[in-house]
Amino acid sequence: MKLAIAGKGGSGKTSISGTMERLLARSGHQVLAIDGDSNPNLALTLGIPPDSIGELPTLPRDLLLRTEDGPKLKQSLEEVCASHSLRGPDGVTLLVMAHPQHAGAG
Ligand SMILES: Nc1ncnc2c1ncn2[C@@H]1O[C@H](COP(=O)(O)OP(=O)(O)OP(=O)(O)O)[C@@H](O)[C@H]1O
Ligand SMILES: [Mg+2]
Repeated sequence: MKLAIAGKGGSGKTSISGTMERLLARSGHQVLAIDGDSNPNLALTLGIPPDSIGELPTLPRDLLLRTEDGPKLKQSLEEVCASHSLRGPDGVTLLVMAHPQHAGAG
């Protein structure tokens, strides 16, 4: 099952997705959470300690290759997860797409 959650700001997307992820992982499902928010805070909802959140490795921009058959990952998902994910206390694996490092021009 793949589930994408998007919607109005402040409507509970992070709370609902994190809760569902934790419940699914607790009941034995393998859960991969991808935080695509430019202000990522799903880690907190997943119970990942604040100390490790600052060190969360984000996905490199050049991870995707454009091919005639469509986009392809440069590495396998297992390799990406081994180097770029953190695991929450209920067993959810978290990948984060981007941390803003600094403010850019508007
Ligand atoms: N079911 C709920 N009942 C009451 N408050 C809630 C509920 N779900 C979320 N909240 C609260 O509403 C606020 C916004 O929730 P959340 O951060 O999950 O929303 P969001 O859609 O991810 O927001 P953003 O667009 O800023 O990423 C938080 O303070 C959260 O604790
Ligand atoms: Mg959110």
